[in-house]
Amino acid sequence: MVSKGLSTSLPQPQKPLYEPFSCEVTAIKELTHTEKLFRLNRLDGLPFSHKPGQFVQVSIPGSGEAPISVSSSTTRGDYLELAVRKVGSLTAVMHQLNVGSKIGLRGPFGSSFDTKSMKNHDLLLISGGCGLAPMRSLIQFVEDRRDDFGRSTIFYGAKSPEDVMYKTELEDWANGDAFTCRVTVDNVSGGTCWDGQTGLITNLVEAADIDVGKTIAVIVGPPVMYKHVIVKLKDKGVSDDQIIVSLERYMKCGSGKCGHCTIEHLYCCIDGPVFRYDKIKELKGAL
Ligand SMILES: Cc1cc2nc3c(=O)[nH]c(=O)nc-3n(C[C@H](O)[C@H](O)[C@H](O)COP(=O)(O)OP(=O)(O)OC[C@H]3O[C@@H](n4cnc5c(N)ncnc54)[C@H](O)[C@@H]3O)c2cc1C
Ligand code: FES
Repeated sequence: MVSKGLSTSLPQPQKPLYEPFSCEVTAIKELTHTEKLFRLNRLDGLPFSHKPGQFVQVSIPGSGEAPISVSSSTTRGDYLELAVRKVGSLTAVMHQLNVGSKIGLRGPFGSSFDTKSMKNHDLLLISGGCGLAPMRSLIQFVEDRRDDFGRSTIFYGAKSPEDVMYKTELEDWANGDAFTCRVTVDNVSGGTCWDGQTGLITNLVEAADIDVGKTIAVIVGPPVMYKHVIVKLKDKGVSDDQIIVSLERYMKCGSGKCGHCTIEHLYCCIDGPVFRYDKIKELKGAL
């Protein structure tokens, strides 16, 4: 006979890891021609527990699963928002969902932006393309805990004005007191109205006024962006341990079991996706 004490000490099933919980889509917003923002609430009424920078595994029966970064902060309320680019099977089905549709989530997974060690530092929040999705969870957190942080600057780069995500929020951040916010686009096609800056995001970093001793730089964006932005930051005197990056890898389990996301000895899904640059810069294929 198994005693009561022994049975409770046996390993318990890890529901958040392996079993999706149901969520209802409570709002949908078109962000760009390829990206939509989904607001979700849990059907079991429990609060979400993610930290800025983490991701969830989204599942739809018959369409599989995909990792998607959480794009909102729990400081905003009991919901979670995902900005989803339509690229393949699951994301195409997501783009057909309506308010009231149900989907499954597992997680949250992965490392987060270490907001404790960012306290009292100046923050340089640099994102490109879809990278503003996870960055927004940190931006909202910083905005809601404004007194905990020093000067905070947002730099965002997109390919074209049509590709700029969170346009209204970028304007709000630029016009509000919490942040200095600059947006640049690579190209403006003829006939498009754009009164913002044109050129690569590295130009914004080059022109930035940085208090090197106090600054932490966070970078999230397409792979090509990291190398060039890091060079500019280092030119300014920012050291490797003051740079945080968030990396994207093809993932399956999201929980360190399948090996799909490895970077040498590290698993992007559990050791990352957020890494301090000095910890991964020597790893083959990291950036
Ligand atoms: C940590 C993390 C966070 C992410 N956050 C977001 C987010 O916030 N928003 C967002 O829109 N996307 C995000 N992604 C990317 C998203 O998970 C992928 O685009 C996912 O593949 C979409 O699923 P799908 O079924 O729609 O596309 P799929 O049908 O899987 O196809 C998408 C693309 O992946 C390619 N692909 C498929 N299988 C493989 C394979 N084995 N190896 C390499 N490439 C393959 C396909 O050719 C295609 O180009 C994130 C990914 C990671 C790892
Ligand atoms: S996704 Fe399976 S080990 Fe990381």
